[in-house]
Formats: sequence, C-alpha cells, structure tokens
Amino acid sequence: MCGIVGYTGRDQAVGYLLEGLSALEYRGYDSAGVEVVGTDGALHGVKCAGRVSVLRERCETANLVGTTGIAHTRWATHGAPTDRNSHPHRDCTGRIAIVHNGIIENFRELRSYLARNGHALASDTDSEVIAHLIEDAWAGPCRGDLVTAVRHAVRRLRGSWAIAVVCADAPGEIVCARNGSPLVVASTPDGAFAASDVTPLAGVTSRVIQLENGQLARLRASGEVTVFDEEGAPVDAPAVMEIDWDASAATLGGYADFMAKEIAEQPEALERLLSGRLGEKGILLDELSMSEKDLADVDLVYLIACGTSYHVGLIARTLIQTWAKVPVICDFASEFNYEQDVLVTPHTLCVVITQSGETADTLTAARRMRGMGCKVFAVTNVLGSTAAREADGVLYVQAGPEVCVASTKAYTAQMVASALLALRLAQAKGEMGRPEVERHYRDLCALPGLIREVISRSWQDKRAAAVFRRAHSALFLGRGVNATTASEGALKLKEISYLHAEAYPAGEMKHGPIALLEPGFPVVAIVPADRVHDKTVSNIQEVIARGAVCVAVATDGDEDVASLVEHVLWIPPVGDELLVPIVAVVHLQMLARYVARTRGCDVDKPRNLAKSVTVE
Ligand code: AGP
Repeated sequence: MCGIVGYTGRDQAVGYLLEGLSALEYRGYDSAGVEVVGTDGALHGVKCAGRVSVLRERCETANLVGTTGIAHTRWATHGAPTDRNSHPHRDCTGRIAIVHNGIIENFRELRSYLARNGHALASDTDSEVIAHLIEDAWAGPCRGDLVTAVRHAVRRLRGSWAIAVVCADAPGEIVCARNGSPLVVASTPDGAFAASDVTPLAGVTSRVIQLENGQLARLRASGEVTVFDEEGAPVDAPAVMEIDWDASAATLGGYADFMAKEIAEQPEALERLLSGRLGEKGILLDELSMSEKDLADVDLVYLIACGTSYHVGLIARTLIQTWAKVPVICDFASEFNYEQDVLVTPHTLCVVITQSGETADTLTAARRMRGMGCKVFAVTNVLGSTAAREADGVLYVQAGPEVCVASTKAYTAQMVASALLALRLAQAKGEMGRPEVERHYRDLCALPGLIREVISRSWQDKRAAAVFRRAHSALFLGRGVNATTASEGALKLKEISYLHAEAYPAGEMKHGPIALLEPGFPVVAIVPADRVHDKTVSNIQEVIARGAVCVAVATDGDEDVASLVEHVLWIPPVGDELLVPIVAVVHLQMLARYVARTRGCDVDKPRNLAKSVTVE
C-alpha cells in the first residue's frame, strides 16, 4: 500500500510528481522518492526515508530537470524504511527505474535467479527485482520496445502490482502495468499521468482510465495513452471513469487537520446519502441491482470488512436482524479468508463494507463469496474502486475524500448506508409496513442535525481529554450496539494517540478487565438512554468504586450519570436507540483527536498505519 505517480508531458515533471505524492501520502508515508529522465539522456533521482515534505526539501537542492518522471510514497512491507529501500529502484545499468505498489510473492526466487545471472541488487525490497527483470528483457529481444519489455518482465511475477517504469533510452514515455493493485492513467493537453488513484488527478482532468488486472499502458509526452492487454494487443475501449469529486475537497480549507475537517463534514455527508431515498414504494436502493423477489428470498446476510468498517458491520448486523429478521454473520475479512467451512445458502447476500474499496483482505473475501455463488454488494466511499467494480451492486456512501488515516465520516456514512439496506430488506421481506419504514427514515434524516449539535459540544471532549494526559491505558465500555461504539472509540484512541485502549461489553467487565482498574485509570462508558441504561449505570458504579476516572457519553438530562462521573459527553436524544452509535461515536472521534493532540501526535498520519491496506 504505497502511492505511485507518473507524468510525461511538456512541463517539468517534478512539480506534478511531488503534488501527486502529497495527495497520495495517505497510502503510506515512511519514505518517498522521485526519478526523472533528464535532458542529458540519463536518469536523475532523489529518494529518502521520511515524508514527502522531506523529499520536497531534497528536490529543491537537487534541481531535477526533466519532463518525464515517476515517484513513490512508501509503506514498508519488505525491508526497513530507509533511503536504500525507498523507491524508485533502478536496474544495474541505471537506465531503467520502476515504482511499485503491491507485493511480489516470489521475490526470493527471483532475487536468487537474478543474482545467479550477474545482477547486483541494491535494496532489501521485493520490488527491485522488477527493474532487473525489465533490464533483461530490454537487453534481449525487447530492445526499443518498453511495453514488451515490461510485459515480459511481469509475466515472471507472482503477487500484486501496480508499476510505473521509465527508461532513459525511451525518453518521453512511461509504461505502467497492473495486477491486483489499483492504477489509473489519464490523457490531458499538458501530458499523460499515472497514479494509484484519482486523488492526484482531480485538479488536472475529469476523465481517467482505470487499468484492469493484466493490462498495461503506454503514456507519451504528447498526452497519448494506449492501453494493452496481457498479450500486448491494444485495448479499443478501456474503462473510462468521470471524476466528480471536487479537488478542493482534499484540501484543509482552514481546519487544523483533516480529521477535524472530516468530523465536521459528517452532517452534510449523511444528508447527501439520505437525500431522495424515500419514494412511493418505500426506501429506494436501486444500487442493490436485485429484483424484489431476490431480495425477499435473502435468507442469510454475510457482512465482511476490516477495522472501522468491521465495526460498521457489527452495527449493521443488529439493524438487519432487528428490522429485516434475517440472520446475519459478520466477520473480519482477514479471518473469513482462512475459515475452512463457510456456511452459505443459495440465497445468501454478501455485503462487503470498505471505505477505500481497495482493502486486500476484503477484496479476497468478496471474490471468495462470488466464487461460492453469492451476490456481492459493496458499501464503499471511493468511486470506481476495485470493490465497487467487482461487486454485483454498489452503494457509494458519498462521504467525499477521506484523507485522515483514521476513518470518521466514512464510518458514520457507512452505518447510515447499512440502515438503508436493513430497511430495504425489511420492506422486501414484508417485515415492515410503510408507516414504520417512514418513521425509521425520519429518524435517519434527523441524524445530521443531532451530529451538528454534538460537534458544537466539542469543548466537552477537549476538557475530558485531560483525563488521558498521563494515562498508559484506557477501558471503553458499552452494551448492545454501543459495545461496538466502545470498540470504535478504543480503536480511534489507539490509532491516533498511541495510547493502549481496550473495549469490553460493560457487563463482561467483572469477568476480567475489572482487575485493570486502579485510582485514576480512565474508563469511557457509553450509557445513552436505552433499555440497558440502568445496567450500564451499575457498571459505572463498579468502576467508580475502584477509584477509576469515568468519562461517560450520556443523553441530555441524565441526572444519574451526571451525579456519578467527572466528565459527561452529552448527546441529544436519538429517535431510535439502534441509531445512537451514529451520534455517540462523534464524541469519541473528537475525544481521540484532542487526546492525540495533547500528546503531540500527528492525528492525520499516525505511525505505522496507512489509509488503504492493499496487502494481506
Ligand atoms: C480506520 O480508522 C482504520 N484506519 C482502519 O481500521 C480501516 O477502517 C480499515 O483498514 C479498513 O479500511 P477500508 O474501510 O478502506 O476497507
């Protein structure tokens, strides 16, 4: 899960490449590099450990002149994040350079083969073998034809790749290849571009070509882009996608960080998603691409996702089971993929939930489900992502670009999407009449206003963040759907503040985690006005009796909670208690952000993480 970008055209390449890397930095940011074909007919590059900002500084002194180039921002898989392991990687002649996103599974075998044949490899990466394989092909029968040389080289690879290649002997040309990892290319009047996704191209063009697995592309400085299939034949009508995202959506726009901006964007995101979803026949969800009968026949729903999206799955499970009365299994994709016996029925609907649409484990799971004959429906945020393209139906949650590694607006939007799906199923199965569907839709439509209200109370989170200043660990408690809210709150805190946090169903605390409690230990309890409120209040009593400090998320006017705990993060009343997680989590997002800032962490780019996890 790295970001790659390429440009060939009439302008200097470095500016475009660095801008492109900045836009792709969410994919990885432990090292970066750039390589251009210089006017002297040689390759010139800079690469270093650290972020794109470090590379940018180095480029300023390196004076890289050239109108064709490739660049990379890395999330290390093979080899530590060092200067040496940063991309681009060159061949032995120093005239071919590549950038790669993915994993070459047979790299050990290829390294031995290349070493036996006199190649000197300069890094510990799996990627470098690609440059040397192209070198062999170029030195042999493919000389003068970079597309064929790359095609020959990638035939020897196993694993996943999106690559971009430049060769000093093929100036004004970039060759790309894709298998498994995403890659888009675009032709513009200023030249041709390649990138891991549309983000760097949004300000440049509104039309991009998405390469399919096995395809290659040749980019020329004239702007010409030609796509080839794996046999090397030109593809007549490659898949063109219109970008409808506003480039300014990926800028800070006055906010201190993207997390703050994305938390604030939640109300509008949900309004977009909910708008026009109630028609004459009830909930409109044509994206499912399923007939009324097929929907009515669904007898098992499989929800598969990772990380925060998995938490959406847990909430969706309750919504679907409660409203549509269909049994649901929710699984981590990484676990599902290695389960031996997967139980599916002839009418199982598989729903994969993935913000990026590129999470490798989730894609593998979706393919496995399709292989078993299930319909696969994708809930995703990214237009034209692999999950979207491979699914039988896709619901875009329309949250807009999510740049911060920690997911916020996509989380709440995916929960609302799941609620719509649950209602649509309930309707098709005759489990809910029109008035009930309308009532639930009204409750959903009230959410943006409630979230606005919570955001206006961010001072409560700021104040409560002080509790965590010297903490080493924290416990999050909740019951029912809010056991999942607790899990999501703990995940947010962990990923951006590096503070250990554990989530537990509140009633389970006494079976073990209670041993953690000591004076000053921070506990976050989600205790809204719901059917299990009094039970959770009892758990809070147990926490306080042991001297722990409790921060509670509670519903306005809850005197019981107010009299018990030091800090209350207040939420307004929510129409249906199953929808509370969509409102309550906003406090936990803001709390995690304030704690991270108090501890001096970079909230947008937490260490060791990447936004889109495209490796297994
Ligand atoms: C979210 O805050 C995390 N960074 C991470 O858990 C994420 O949700 C997970 O990697 C799944 O990503 P996806 O939704 O793009 O598939």
